[in-house]
Amino acid sequence: MQNILVTGGCGFIGSNFIRHILADPGFQGRVINLDKLTYAGNPRNLDGVAEACPGRYVCVRADIADAAAVERVFDEYGVDAVCHFAAESHVDRSILGPEEFLCANVLGTFRLLEAARRRKGKITRFHHVSTDEVYGTLGMEGKFTEQSPYQPSSPYSASKAASDHLVRAWHVTYGLPVTVSNCSNNYGPYQFPEKLIPLMILNAVAGKPLPVYGKGNNVRDWLYVEDHCAAVWLVMRKGREGETYNVGGGAEMPNIGVVRRVCRILDETLGVEAEGPRERLVRFVTDRPGHDLRYAIDSEKIRKELGWEPRMDFDGGLRRTVAWYLENTGWVADVQTGAYREWARRQYGEQA
Ligand code: NAD
Ligand code: DAU
Repeated sequence: MQNILVTGGCGFIGSNFIRHILADPGFQGRVINLDKLTYAGNPRNLDGVAEACPGRYVCVRADIADAAAVERVFDEYGVDAVCHFAAESHVDRSILGPEEFLCANVLGTFRLLEAARRRKGKITRFHHVSTDEVYGTLGMEGKFTEQSPYQPSSPYSASKAASDHLVRAWHVTYGLPVTVSNCSNNYGPYQFPEKLIPLMILNAVAGKPLPVYGKGNNVRDWLYVEDHCAAVWLVMRKGREGETYNVGGGAEMPNIGVVRRVCRILDETLGVEAEGPRERLVRFVTDRPGHDLRYAIDSEKIRKELGWEPRMDFDGGLRRTVAWYLENTGWVADVQTGAYREWARRQYGEQA
């Protein structure tokens, strides 16, 4: 792999992934980051990377659903491997406006697969980054395995499920060397503050209400983003063609438990406010329609076959994440004011 196309590299996980692989001394190739720079794409997530790795990082603003643009990027940069993160990723937004999710997640994945298929002998790996949400919801028992049936609940998870099926079909029918990973909820640096953990951190710091959907007893399986990046990189290099690997943190927690922990860490770090502990800001609000009750991942396959283990426990990861959001006030202000979008436009032109 000399010229790896990373799609969605300006997003939360993609930007952590690019930093991760460029820091791996075993990889001396180049990263081509193809990103539409939607509201979720912030090129400043990669500040300093091009300078630290001269000639090894380039960012191109384009839509993965734009066939001509995708073709150009494959040719211009001699792409020989793909790691596909680009997607509309937020469940609540998919409920309000599903169309964008179909365009990016389904049509966009199809365009990339077709570009890769046309260069089949040259593409050594097409890795597709997906989610545990394709499996739908669990009750209070059991875990998702790679054999669990697909039962997506939201427009987001349905679009990701469709993309997973396309990727596997391009392997079975056309022999494209694909791998797929289905991962649980990530958290850590550079996550856009619409997602639970960064939203709660920033609201609690600002003394704003902390909206918890329903009764707060929905359970997610949390994984520190760096551990996910290590898993994706491992599957890309060592995973068997045509195989799917589930990735999870083994850190299940009801949402209200997560929010209380965030509040406690902030109280310890910043001191308890005169009005009382930050937990007072919790508000139970109308539930998300179709809200999956519980996700939990059985990661035995990637652990046994590839030797992957999450390194960060939830408490340590959450403390590190809270500290990151407290320290990176410039990044937070940029995102909260929307200044990063103007910066992206000046650097990379208008949105594709
Ligand atoms: P994100 O929303 O932070 O970033 C998505 C990135 O994709 C952004 O940079 C955005 O500009 C880009 N993008 C969106 N539409 C595009 C298009 N049409 N063309 C080119 N670029 C486009 O998302 P994330 O949380 O980093 O998730 C990345 C991937 O990982 C997604 O595929 C998601 O389904 C998957 N995933 C996420 C999680 C999680 O907890 N966040 C867990 C499992 C899997
Ligand atoms: O499971 C993997 C998925 O995790 C990824 O595929 C998605 O891209 C990613 O967005 C995430 O989806 P969730 O819907 O689980 O994440 P979110 O942060 O939106 O919500 C986490 C839980 O917290 C969920 O049960 C809904 C709840 N929640 C969320 C928000 C934003 C609240 O209670 N209040 C909130 O304000």
